[in-house]
Amino acid sequence: MYLNSVAVALLTILAQAICDPVDDALSVTPTATLAKGVIRGTTTSIAGDSTSLAVNKFLGIPFATPPVGSLRFTPPKPTSWAEPKDAKEFKSACIQVFSPLSDRNFTEAVFNTPTPNESEDCLYLNVFAPKKPWNLSKSLFPVLYWMYGGAMKFGNAGQPAYDGSNFAALEDVIVVSVNYRTNVFGFPMAPAISNITERNLGLLDQRAGLDWIQRNIEKFGGDKTRITVFGESAGAYSTDILLTSAWPNGSPFSSAIMESGSYAYLPIPNCNNTDYRAWQSLIDALGCTNASPTPFQCVKEKNASDVKTAQEFWNIAFGQACDNITYVSDPRLRRERGEFAQVPVIEGSNAQDGSYYAFRFGNNTELYFQTYFKTMTQEWRNKILEAYPLGTEGRVDNVTRLIQIHTDWNFHCPATFNADSSTKFVDTYRYLFNATFPNTRIRDPRWSEQYQGAWHTSEIPIVFSTYPREGFTDEERRLSDTMRHAWASFARDPKQPPLEG
Ligand SMILES: *[C@@H]1O[C@H](CO)[C@@H](O)[C@H](O)[C@H]1NC(C)=O
Ligand SMILES: *[C@@H]1O[C@H](CO)[C@@H](O)[C@H](O)[C@H]1NC(C)=O
Ligand SMILES: *[C@@H]1O[C@H](CO)[C@@H](O)[C@H](O)[C@H]1NC(C)=O
Ligand SMILES: *[C@@H]1O[C@H](CO)[C@@H](O)[C@H](O)[C@H]1NC(C)=O
Ligand SMILES: *[C@@H]1O[C@H](CO)[C@@H](O)[C@H](O)[C@H]1NC(C)=O
Ligand SMILES: *[C@@H]1O[C@H](CO)[C@@H](O)[C@H](O)[C@H]1NC(C)=O
Ligand SMILES: *[C@@H]1O[C@H](CO)[C@@H](O)[C@H](O)[C@H]1NC(C)=O
Ligand SMILES: *[C@@H]1O[C@H](CO)[C@@H](O)[C@H](O)[C@H]1NC(C)=O
Ligand SMILES: *[C@@H]1O[C@H](CO)[C@@H](O)[C@H](O)[C@H]1NC(C)=O
Ligand SMILES: *[C@@H]1O[C@H](CO)[C@@H](O)[C@H](O)[C@H]1NC(C)=O
Repeated sequence: MYLNSVAVALLTILAQAICDPVDDALSVTPTATLAKGVIRGTTTSIAGDSTSLAVNKFLGIPFATPPVGSLRFTPPKPTSWAEPKDAKEFKSACIQVFSPLSDRNFTEAVFNTPTPNESEDCLYLNVFAPKKPWNLSKSLFPVLYWMYGGAMKFGNAGQPAYDGSNFAALEDVIVVSVNYRTNVFGFPMAPAISNITERNLGLLDQRAGLDWIQRNIEKFGGDKTRITVFGESAGAYSTDILLTSAWPNGSPFSSAIMESGSYAYLPIPNCNNTDYRAWQSLIDALGCTNASPTPFQCVKEKNASDVKTAQEFWNIAFGQACDNITYVSDPRLRRERGEFAQVPVIEGSNAQDGSYYAFRFGNNTELYFQTYFKTMTQEWRNKILEAYPLGTEGRVDNVTRLIQIHTDWNFHCPATFNADSSTKFVDTYRYLFNATFPNTRIRDPRWSEQYQGAWHTSEIPIVFSTYPREGFTDEERRLSDTMRHAWASFARDPKQPPLEG
C-alpha cells in the first residue's frame, strides 16, 4: 500500500514535469483552459540572434461581459463560455474620442494609426507568452501588465507598437495588454451614479484585468506573485493611480514602471465629485436634458457613435471621481507618508515629451500661455520665460522654448517629485529617454522634424522592440535591446537594479 502510493506520487510528479502550462504549448494551435472556458491561441515567430523564436499569442480574451445595452455605464462583470473560443485576433478598441474636433485628424494620424475598429464590446485582453517547453525545474514566467495611454479619452491595446512578442520570445516573460473604457464610457461622472467608485469604470476595467491575471496567468506559465504594471502617458497615470490606491489586502503587483506620466504631482485641479458640467453638456448635446424617465436613461439608450460624436464636436471631457479607493484625492500626502503600494518603481520621461502639445503654437508664446496657463498672471509668465532664455540649452526659437516648458511642467517635474517621494520608501529608478531615430519620426507635413525630438510615445517601440524593421540603425537596435532587457529584468527581480553599469 505504502509503496503504491509513493509510486502514484512519483508518477504524478513526472506527469507534471513534462506537462506544459498551456495545454499544448508547442502545437500550432496552443490552447489554454481557463477558469471560465477554453481558448485557442495562435503562434508567431520573431528573429532571434541565431534562430527564430516562437511565441504563443492569445488575443482578444474576454475578461468581462460586454458592457453593451443595459450594461453601458456599469462595472465590468464576470463572463464565461461553454465552447472553446478562438483568441487569435485583436478585438475592437473601446469607443475613442479625439477632441477638440479641429485636432482630430492630426491626433489620429500620430496616435491612432493604423485605425482600429471601435465598439462598446471591447473588454478583452491579450497574452503574449514564450512558446517553450516548461517543466518543474524552471520557475514560472514573470508578467508585465500594459495599460495604454490616450488621455483617458482614447487608446487601444491592439496597436502594433504594443505587441509583446519580442518580450515573450527574447526575455521569457509574459506580456498582458488590456483594453479599458475611456471618455464618458469609462468615466461617467453623472449624478445618477451614486456609488462614486462606479464612475471610474475605466479604472475598474484595469483592475478587472489584474484580477484576471491573478486567477488565470498560471495557465500560461505565468507567476502571479511577480506582476509588473506598466504604462505610458495615461497608462503611466493609471499606474500611479494603482500605486497610490488603498490596498487593504496588499497590491496585486510587485513592481511598476511609469513612462512619461504620473498622477500624484500632476498640476491638475482637485477632484470635485459634484462637478457635473461635462455631463450636463453631454445631455444637452444629445437632447436628453428633459428626457423621461431620466436624462441618464436617455444617454444610456443613445447610439454609441452619437455619444462619441457629441463629445468630439462639443469638446466635452470627463475626469475621474475621488472615491478614495480606486482614485484618491490626496495622492501627494499619501506618498509623503509612505501610504502607497510598497513596490519598486521605474519612472522616466522623454526629452521632448511636450513637443506634440507645444509645437502647434508655433512662435506664438501668448497663445500658448492663454491655452495652457489661462489664469497665470503676467508677472509669473515673465518669470517662466526668463527661466528659459532663448539661445541657450537648445532653445533656438520660441517653439523649442515652449516645448521645453511644456515638457518640464507636465512630465519632467511631476516625475521628479514623484520619484523624490517614492525613493524615501521603495527602490526607485529614473530614466531620461533622449534618443531619436530616422524610422521612428512622424512623417507628416504638419509636424516638422525639427520640432519633434524624442517626442511623447516615441520610446514605446524601443521598449517593446516593435520599431520598424526597415531603416533601423544599429544604435536603435542596441538601445531597444537594453531597454527591453531592463524592463524584463525588473519584472524578473525588482530588488535588483534593472541595468548593470
Ligand atoms: C486626415 O485628412 C487627410 C486629408 O483630408 C486624409 O487623407 C486622412 O486620411 C485623414 N486622416 C485620418 C486619420 O483621418
Ligand atoms: C474591422 O471589422 C471588420 C468587420 O468585422 C473586419 O473585417 C476588419 O478586419 C476589422 N479591422 C480591423 C483593423 O480589425
Ligand atoms: C527542463 O528545464 C531545464 C532547464 O531549463 C532544461 O534543461 C530541460 O531540458 C527541460 N526539460 C524538458 C523535459 O523540457
Ligand atoms: C460601489 O461599487 C463598487 C464597484 O462596483 C463595489 O465594489 C462596492 O461594493 C460598491 N459600494 C457600495 C457601498 O455599494
Ligand atoms: C464643484 O463643482 C461645482 C460645479 O462646478 C461647483 O458648484 C462647486 O462649487 C465645486 N465644489 C468645490 C468644492 O469646488
Ligand atoms: C449608430 O449610428 C451609426 C452611424 O450613424 C449607424 O451606422 C449604426 O447603424 C447605428 N447603430 C444603431 C444600433 O442604431
Ligand atoms: C477622500 O479623502 C479625503 C482626504 O482624507 C477627504 O477629504 C474626502 O472627503 C474623501 N472623499 C471621499 C469620497 O470619501
Ligand atoms: C519661429 O521663429 C523662428 C525665427 O525666430 C523661425 O526660424 C521659425 O521658422 C519659426 N517657427 C515657426 C514654426 O513658425
Ligand atoms: C518670443 O516670444 C516672446 C514672448 O512672447 C516675444 O517677446 C519674442 O519677440 C519672441 N521671439 C521671437 C524670436 O519670436
Ligand atoms: C539630449 O541629447 C542632446 C544631443 O546629444 C544633448 O544636446 C542634450 O543636452 C540632451 N538633453 C538632455 C536633457 O540631456
